[in-house]
Amino acid sequence: MQTHSHILHRQIRGSLPVAAQGQGVYIIDGDGKRYLDASGGAAVSSLGHSHPRVIAAIKGQIDKLAFAHSGSFTSEPAEALADYLVERAPAGIEHVYFVSGGSEAVESALKIARQYFLELGQPQRSKFIARRQSYHGNTLGALAVGGNMWRRQPFEPMLTDTEHIGPCYAYREQGAGETDLEYGRRAADELEAKVLEMGAENVIGFVAEPIVGATAGALVPAPGYFKRIREICDRHGILLILDEVMCGMGRTGSLFACEQEGVRPDIVTIAKGLGAGYLPIGAMLCSTEVFAAIRDGSGFFQHGYTFMGHSTACAAALAVQQAIDEEGLLANVRNMGSKLDAALRDCFAGHPHIGDIRGRGLFLGIELVADRASKEPLDPALAVHEVIKRHAMAGGLMCYPSGGTIDGKRGNHILLAPPFIVEQNHVAEIVEKLESALNAALREVGVMT
Ligand SMILES: Cc1ncc(COP(=O)(O)O)c(C=O)c1O
Repeated sequence: MQTHSHILHRQIRGSLPVAAQGQGVYIIDGDGKRYLDASGGAAVSSLGHSHPRVIAAIKGQIDKLAFAHSGSFTSEPAEALADYLVERAPAGIEHVYFVSGGSEAVESALKIARQYFLELGQPQRSKFIARRQSYHGNTLGALAVGGNMWRRQPFEPMLTDTEHIGPCYAYREQGAGETDLEYGRRAADELEAKVLEMGAENVIGFVAEPIVGATAGALVPAPGYFKRIREICDRHGILLILDEVMCGMGRTGSLFACEQEGVRPDIVTIAKGLGAGYLPIGAMLCSTEVFAAIRDGSGFFQHGYTFMGHSTACAAALAVQQAIDEEGLLANVRNMGSKLDAALRDCFAGHPHIGDIRGRGLFLGIELVADRASKEPLDPALAVHEVIKRHAMAGGLMCYPSGGTIDGKRGNHILLAPPFIVEQNHVAEIVEKLESALNAALREVGVMT
């Protein structure tokens, strides 16, 4: 346990164990304690820890050349990774802009979308529409499109003006007599109403996570929702920007989450699972149409970061993606994802404080409630998500509990996003440890006896 530190840690009061070693799905701390990494950090470590192929690729690249500035050079690993991604990306997505993480990817998406319309001679288009309860990153542009009120609130006066519509949140918003399709359509139609209210000629695009991760706990869209969203974007000539920083790169069982929605974005962002935590890397991918407007216009995307296209990060990410492909891990995501989902349902079927279990692939969320019938959330003052995290860590389990699921203040969920290499015995260990951490936390805060 590290008690004195010069690092400005996320939590300034308190102390953290030292992560000393990684071994497959486990992280081992300085005292030798093992933690099953059932959240991959924050849905990052999709390949687990210390994969020999990735380590070899990183070492091999460093032996040749660690980094050369992208203003003067391209590199073999960056070109190969771009080829790999474009070959597998939704149709029409043919250009890749490498960055170092999710927020940078989202900033790049917002800026290329704005520049696209400038190149087309439509400078009045300056506004984005996004959704409440989504998270797109902590830099100011990404935070402005983000819809989590708690994260936005301190910085509100500094955020650019963005309009938000509601999330697609069937558990809480679907009407009693409404079919899934009807609800999906109604939720998507909020976008059209907002575009008309703002005037389509002022709107750049709509930003959304296909499956909402950190701030809503693996919220899966209703059937037909994104198809309808695509139609609305096309009808009004606005761009569809999908943020797959958390849900992309295989997490839901397909390389891009939007494949399962049957829609093609104009711009898509990826990060976490791209390099799986071996090195920091993210990317913004865009359509030929967006790219061509800039190529045939100013010829220069007015943006850039020092470390973009970092050769060693690209070599690591390429090795990660090749390992996922060659080891058939997307099939394991689908297979183990349904086993984990079934095991959670089995375990929590009668639990008085589990209201909803949802998600896709190895991206699952559990929403907590005070009362299952009324769906009333637990008192936010209990901060039960923090207590769950403490008990889970004490029991050797990493999961990702959060508060504010419903509106940034009320509601709690636990997000699970284990590495794609999990096996049946790990699934059993996750559910067993989660149940004991959850019950211990609910007892500690006085909700359960
Ligand atoms: C959907 C989504 N977009 C963007 C981000 C920001 O990524 P980063 O923390 O790498 O900047 C996150 C991080 O959780 C995310 O979940």
